[in-house]
Amino acid sequence: MACFLASAFLFILQTFAAPPQASISLNGINLNDEDVTLSPPPGTSKRPPHSIIIGVRKGGTRALLEMLDIHPEVAAAATEVHFFDWDENYAKGLEWYRELMPYSYPHQITVEKTPGYFTSTLAPERICAMNSSIKLLLILRDPAERVVSDYTQVYFNRLENHKPVQAIENLLVRNGALNTGYKAIQRSLYDIHMRNWLRHFPLEQIHIVDGDLLIHDPLPELQKVERFLNLPPRIVASNFYFNQTKGFYCIRSDGRERCLHESKGRPHPVVNSTVLQQLRSYLQEHNRTFFRLVKRTFNWQ
Ligand code: A3P
Repeated sequence: MACFLASAFLFILQTFAAPPQASISLNGINLNDEDVTLSPPPGTSKRPPHSIIIGVRKGGTRALLEMLDIHPEVAAAATEVHFFDWDENYAKGLEWYRELMPYSYPHQITVEKTPGYFTSTLAPERICAMNSSIKLLLILRDPAERVVSDYTQVYFNRLENHKPVQAIENLLVRNGALNTGYKAIQRSLYDIHMRNWLRHFPLEQIHIVDGDLLIHDPLPELQKVERFLNLPPRIVASNFYFNQTKGFYCIRSDGRERCLHESKGRPHPVVNSTVLQQLRSYLQEHNRTFFRLVKRTFNWQ
């Protein structure tokens, strides 16, 4: 029913919204500037995504998309669209969204990632309205680690923008107790967010990638994704090499070697052990509930 209502809403929006603009811009980048688009490769077209990496923020979403893009039958979107969780984007309609997808050949599948979807209350219903049989990818890592990673990202963003920063303990603790209102903690309550998705999609349609395993040995996790997406096995061990300086696996494909941007794989602060233990205890019950929901367990402390 919810899915139907969202479909109807989207239909009305598309019927009455202005037709797609000749010029589409996202995050300040004009995506169809003449020098950007030129003419698309013959035989390609823009299609809505066959699969979406829905999160979680700091789970390893960029690594997953870039590694999946090694596959010759995958066309990965260049930028996060935030179509389903930002009302102002959603109001522009599906045609606008499709225009932001990459050009792809008929034998390819298109994949986009918007990590904010997993914790969005709007995204599941809206994605279901667009395509109720879409295959969803969700990459998760130890939720306590994820909190620290989330903090680290915000910390560096604030430094860059000359805003004041705080020690992580000051955010994690309020009046001597764990600050459960801290957004980074709330985003790590995987059971709560997963319930919202399972209201709209069966579990079999959401493949969970183990983000901790992806860091230490990417190939097996990528092979599982290939199978889930019904792709022939094309990603192989030689597509990855460990870069000692970065401390992470990097990608070798099409005769090129590349690591992820320096904002991926940052060193984390050492968190006071008592505070970290408080955080882990709080997350434990949520993790157990999550394991029951998804009928599998993860090696989270
Ligand atoms: P940290 O920077 O905290 O270590 P996302 O892309 O969703 O923002 O996730 C970022 C996280 O991806 C990084 O968090 C890092 O741990 C993880 N990651 C997984 N594989 C990686 C890789 N090969 N290179 C860099 N980071 C990787």
